[in-house]
Order: sequence, then C-alpha cells, then structure tokens
Amino acid sequence: MLSGKNILIGITGGIAAYKICELIRMFKRQNANVRVVCTPNALNFVTKLTLRNLSQNEVGVEEFDIPDFKPEHISYADEADIMIIAPATANTISKIASGICDNLLTSITCAFKKPVIIAPAMNCNMWESPAIQENLKKLASRGYKILEPESGFLACGYEGKGRLCSLEKIYDEAASILTTKTKGKKYVITAGGTIEDIDPVRYISNYSSGKMGLALADETYHCGNDVTLITTVDVTRPYKIIKVKSAIEMQEAVNAEFETADFIIMAAAVADYRVKNKSDQKIKKTNDDTLTLELVKNPDILKELCNKKTHQTVVGFCAESENLLTNAKEKIQKKGCDYLIANDISRKDIGFSSDYNEVTILDKNGGMIKLERASKSEIARGILKVINE
Ligand code: CTP
Repeated sequence: MLSGKNILIGITGGIAAYKICELIRMFKRQNANVRVVCTPNALNFVTKLTLRNLSQNEVGVEEFDIPDFKPEHISYADEADIMIIAPATANTISKIASGICDNLLTSITCAFKKPVIIAPAMNCNMWESPAIQENLKKLASRGYKILEPESGFLACGYEGKGRLCSLEKIYDEAASILTTKTKGKKYVITAGGTIEDIDPVRYISNYSSGKMGLALADETYHCGNDVTLITTVDVTRPYKIIKVKSAIEMQEAVNAEFETADFIIMAAAVADYRVKNKSDQKIKKTNDDTLTLELVKNPDILKELCNKKTHQTVVGFCAESENLLTNAKEKIQKKGCDYLIANDISRKDIGFSSDYNEVTILDKNGGMIKLERASKSEIARGILKVINE
C-alpha cells in the first residue's frame, strides 16, 4: 500500500524512542522507504545500528556529515513525502515552534514543506505546562498534525497524560495522508455557530464550537487538498480562513467560493432566524416586563447551494435532539444534498463542544453508514473517506 512512499522518521530523546523500532518495521512491511534522523539525545535510548538495520538506510544525526553538494538537512527534506517526529520531547517541540535549528532534526523540520506528524511523549506535568501547550497550539496553527499522547502509567513513575500514542495511530495517520486519492481538490467547509446581532452589545447564537468543521478542514488539508474554511470562530491555520459572523455573511462567503469548489461541507450551525430590525444603538430597559423581538428567516444556505450545484458534492450536517434518523431522512430529501451527517446533540459525551462525535452518514440514494463514537479527527477522516468513494 505504501510502496515507493518516502517516510522520514525523526526520533528525539525520550524513553518511547525504543517503540519506534517497531514503527519502522510497520512501514517497511508495506514496502515504504524509511529514513531515520535522530537528535543526539535519542541515541541514549536506541542505537544507530538498530535503526540502520531496521530502516536499511544510514541514520542521520550530525548536521555536517555532507556526502554531496546539497546540505544534509535540505536533501532529507526534499526526498521525503512525509515526516513523523515520534517521540517528540517538550524540548524539540519548543524548538520547532520557535524555528530553532540547532541539530539535524530541527533543521530538517524547519525546511520541510510537506505534511509533518508530531507525536509528543513526556512526563504529565511537562505536558500540562502552559509553555508546551502554547507551543503545540502554535504548531497546530501552522498545519502540523499533533497526535496527542495517551494517559496511563508513565516511565517516570507518574500516572497521567504523556504516553506516546499507539503506533497504529501514527501509522494510520501517515497512511491516510499518503494514500488519499483526492489530493488537489478544493474543499469549502463552514464551521461554528452564526451570530445574529440584536444591537451593538447583544446577539443570538448557539452552542456550536466549530470543532467538527475545523477537524474536517485539518484532515483534508493534511491530505494535500486546497481548503477554505469559512468560520465564525477565531482560528489560525496555514490554509485559507474566511472569518464571518452572521448567516448572511456566511452565505456571501460560501457563494463566492462555490463555483471553483469540488466539495462543500456545511458543518456550521446556521441560525434559522435573525432579528428583523437590528438596533444601531443599545436597546434600553423600559418599565415593561417583557420585550418582544421580531425575527425573520435567514436564507437556507445549504438548500440554495443544492439547487444550483453542478459538479460539486454538497454535504450537510443535521443536528437533532430527538428522532435523529427520522428527521435526518426527511432533511436530506428536503435539502437535496448528496450526503447528510446526522448527529445527536442531546448526548453530553459527543457533539457540540465535545472533542468526540458519533454520526450517521446518509446518502441521497438511501444508504446509511454509522461511525461509532471517536475523536472528531477520526470522525472527520471517516466522513471524508465516504464522500470520496
Ligand atoms: N443550514 C443552512 N442554512 C440555514 C440553516 C441550516 O445552510 N439557514 C445548514 C446547516 O449548515 C446544516 C444543515 O443546513 O448543514 C442542517 O441544519 P439544521 O440546523 O440541522 O437544520 P435546519 O435546516 O436549520 O432545520 P431545523 O433547525 O428545523 O432542524
């Protein structure tokens, strides 16, 4: 499956370094070319000889071992299709976030233009440190794929979050990025709840966090697609972000991108109504016990897109608090979209602000696929796979 793919594995100085020997074998079994680069500290945990024999390639450690005219870090960066840094220590994460290039691994990372997966592993207190969390946020905003550590018994004797995630997770992530068939397609994705002003200080909105739309955008971007995220939530990413507020603004932005899009995914929670006469001044309290706001219907962005679509695949979401599948079946007919992703917002363990979701994907021909509860990134990958089949 990975035959001919060039995978660069960067190992830093943490105890989980020994596990990477098995990861190299997993890629080699699929006929991938693997090159390994280590920080000097990584060699305290695993030997160069082991890594060389498993990868069947020389292992890079020193920056100035230059066998040809091209500086070592540039040739490593040019050759690989993907880079995986595992385990990534707090130190290396922070250096990469600051652009520090003080060894071969950090220099390669700085010069690397293709997807990078970072799998951190460290003591749980280091993981929770605000400096490390801030640096990870920085890396995610620049397009690095962070595979969070797992909780459990740590080699340092502590119990908590910090164990390297499973090798299967790292392998699956890399394989999904390397083998996706849809590279170069344009995805327009909406995220977050729209904000409908009442007056300059008040608004009507909903609890949507925008996490599902962001996960879809991140996953498809990592697979080499062109992404435009139209969002009501502030976010920094290496792909195109259009920040909007109201349903009307969202519709204008979506329409401007629609013609050139291959996929439109409406993950946003668009307000069905907005205030009819929004006040330019703050509405003052009166002696009356009640206040009546008149609302008018917002355009149904998804439905209008479905009416005018030509080559595009249009995907809607369906947030329901009861009768999920009955309502979803009705909704896909009413809207006319190619796929509808139904999720139950009444459950506390999935949906709106959670990092997890569980969805049923309906297609226009009556087909249904359930994706069991998983992280929003995994659900996003599942959705992308189905809509690309
Ligand atoms: N949607 C839209 N424009 C609207 C309302 C919703 O484009 N004015 C889109 C959402 O982004 C989502 C889908 O339509 O992809 C379904 O949204 P949902 O809120 O579940 O359904 P509604 O059409 O609003 O119907 P209801 O609120 O009655 O369930």
